[in-house]
Amino acid sequence: MNLTIHPGRSIQGIVASHGEISLPGDKSLSHRAAILSAMAVSDSKIDNFQVSGVTRVMLDALTQLNIPWILDNQRLSVEGRGLRSWSVPSQPIFCGNSATTIRLLAGALAAGGVPVILDGSAGLRRRPMDRIVDPLQQMGVAIHSTGGCAPLELQRSPMPLKALEYTLPVASAQVKTCLLLAALSADGATILHEPGPSRDHTERMLRSLGVQIESTLWDAKTGDMPMITTRLTLPRGGFALPGLHMFLPGDPSAAAFLVVAALITPDSLIRLEGVLLNPTRTGLLDVLLSMGAKIDWQITGQTNGEPTGWIEAASSDLKATQVRGPLVVRMIDEFPAFAVAAACAEGKTVVCEAEELRTKESDRIAALAGELRKIGVVVHETADGFEIDGGRGFSGGMVQSHGDHRLAMSLAVAGLRAKSAVTVEDAQVIGESFPSFVAIVRQLGADIEVG
Ligand code: S3P
Repeated sequence: MNLTIHPGRSIQGIVASHGEISLPGDKSLSHRAAILSAMAVSDSKIDNFQVSGVTRVMLDALTQLNIPWILDNQRLSVEGRGLRSWSVPSQPIFCGNSATTIRLLAGALAAGGVPVILDGSAGLRRRPMDRIVDPLQQMGVAIHSTGGCAPLELQRSPMPLKALEYTLPVASAQVKTCLLLAALSADGATILHEPGPSRDHTERMLRSLGVQIESTLWDAKTGDMPMITTRLTLPRGGFALPGLHMFLPGDPSAAAFLVVAALITPDSLIRLEGVLLNPTRTGLLDVLLSMGAKIDWQITGQTNGEPTGWIEAASSDLKATQVRGPLVVRMIDEFPAFAVAAACAEGKTVVCEAEELRTKESDRIAALAGELRKIGVVVHETADGFEIDGGRGFSGGMVQSHGDHRLAMSLAVAGLRAKSAVTVEDAQVIGESFPSFVAIVRQLGADIEVG
């Protein structure tokens, strides 16, 4: 599927927290809600669950493990019978293109002692898995990678697992979550040290279910990279996880595309309601504000320990900026959208300490630089980031998604401010995390063709 975006129209309107034109439920929360519900010993109901390519593979995996679930619109109901009820699948579990699925499942399967092979698409097989395999092995899990990547083979491991004190080499919520899930079957306190504030949804969700879990407090306003320690303590005799009941707020990483669309398109103003505003996810909003964006947001409520609220954004004259340190991890999924904003900002934007971007759905440094160049942006790629000479906007042209949903949506947004139409090839990949992207952008006024 190709998407063609014609410039010239403004972006205006409200994206409400419920209803037809609403943001998808948060992807990270959806993955965690599905897997914790499957580990629970009683039933769960999750509302506003994200129905997308990457969450489908997680649900299909639960089917292979014989965990009953039903999806009715965006309500996911899971029959929780505890980890001991999980069946050994007769086939490898295919995790598609979803690193969250494979890494979180590996932790949960380790906790359940289920022997299985975890595999995925060619894109997923390229992504680093030693970061979970090494610490899981230290916990006594019999797990092996294929040259540091998927397929991963899990064999039956002696239970309980060994409690772990471990320092993650990179700040990664997927790795942290994998280890916390495994730690639910360990024989004592698990302590994880992490070089930066990666998203803490697992900690908040587990806490809301009664698990004792503490983390270092940090201040989003300082530029220093904090070392975050998370400590999970189980009661003697283990802990039976109760079912989860939660309404999932809108995905701030999906909101990012709409926010940048409004900022760079003349005469635009949007309001997004019911958005997850966890401080580990709002790095992009902070950076855009420092670039002179007309943007505002406010926390108005909480759901299972997660702050939620609204965001407003209007057409803005942006100035270049620098991104490094803890901001990188707080906006790790937002660099494609950010790069589009930076291309419209006056001056030279510099991103560094962001080599982790090379391990995402695509090598996001190389792919972003290559595609933005095709539509007239002056980009210089560095080992750990990129520099953009902004302010010229975009020419029209053909660009490629590289099989990366976030790259596809960002390039489509660039088309709103281009001199002529931008066509994004292989744009069907958008369905991985934001299947209603085209409908919402169209509803907000964009001229966008699917072909
Ligand atoms: C995610 C964590 C991030 C992020 C991904 C979702 C999660 O990955 O890029 O889209 O749900 O835990 P890392 O933890 O590997 O940085």
